[in-house]
Amino acid sequence: MAEQLLDVIVRKRELQGDGVVVLDLTRADGAALPLFDAGAHVDIHIAPGLVRQYSLCSDPADASVYRLGVLKDPASRGGSAGVHAHLLEGRQVQISAPRNLFPLAEGATRSILLGGGIGITPMIAMAYALEQRGDAFELHYCGRSRNHSAFLAELGSAPFASKVVTHFDDEHGRLDLAAVLGQGRARVHMYTCGPAGFMDWVIDGARQQGYAEDHIHKEYFQAEVDASGEGFEVVAARSGKTVQVAEGQSILQALTAVGIDIPISCEQGVCGSCLCDVLEGEPDHRDVYLTDDEKAGNDQILVCCSRAKSKKLVLDI
Ligand code: FES
Repeated sequence: MAEQLLDVIVRKRELQGDGVVVLDLTRADGAALPLFDAGAHVDIHIAPGLVRQYSLCSDPADASVYRLGVLKDPASRGGSAGVHAHLLEGRQVQISAPRNLFPLAEGATRSILLGGGIGITPMIAMAYALEQRGDAFELHYCGRSRNHSAFLAELGSAPFASKVVTHFDDEHGRLDLAAVLGQGRARVHMYTCGPAGFMDWVIDGARQQGYAEDHIHKEYFQAEVDASGEGFEVVAARSGKTVQVAEGQSILQALTAVGIDIPISCEQGVCGSCLCDVLEGEPDHRDVYLTDDEKAGNDQILVCCSRAKSKKLVLDI
């Protein structure tokens, strides 16, 4: 069944910081929006064939508006550049219902939110939710400089403003991660989102401080795709087609070339849209979507970025 999309209007659009557009979306028919859980994202149908995910950063208890922030990426393959060019005030656009791959854990004694740059967006929604729950938390916002950073006015006047700590490289230098994380304690949960290098640094730091893996929560919004490695064969079992995937080519590209349609969105191993079942062969997982356990199971693969360790992969497509 086709996914039900929501028609929304760009009610307000504001440029903030260095290249971040902040959009307030409301229902085109004036009705309430579906409530969402902090950490959720929506798919935005920016133009025909151009769908991208963006985290919701508004108050999850407010059904009148969805807010999101989109950084214009100089290397954009259409997504952020399309949002900046097309989503003007008054424009109507279709979005998916919210989906949450980055939920808050239950039962934490304290939550530490660490957002790097535009990775602050899901953290803002989390801060609203934690404040409403009455839970203990702190929100650390890391960036290059105050001038580059969006959402500072909102964070400064939010009900949780006293729990926000900013760390700008050109003011006090890099944040003291060990001090912020402290010694990982049984029910302290850490959440991070931001550029991959920032997140890897934070996640390593949490592991060094003794945080359990299931207390380290992360959402990558962009990942580099490594397409290197030898070619291999992919059999599409249900379609009855076999393709050769060349070095530097993705499985997705090889399948598309022979007319096999795979749902896609990010093409970076982030969103999970292109997930396929593996019937035979050993995947070489290169995504950041599947968990370590799911990767070890070797029965699923994200075909936009992952490759094969075996000479042949048989997929249930
Ligand atoms: S298209 Fe997003 S993970 Fe493959």
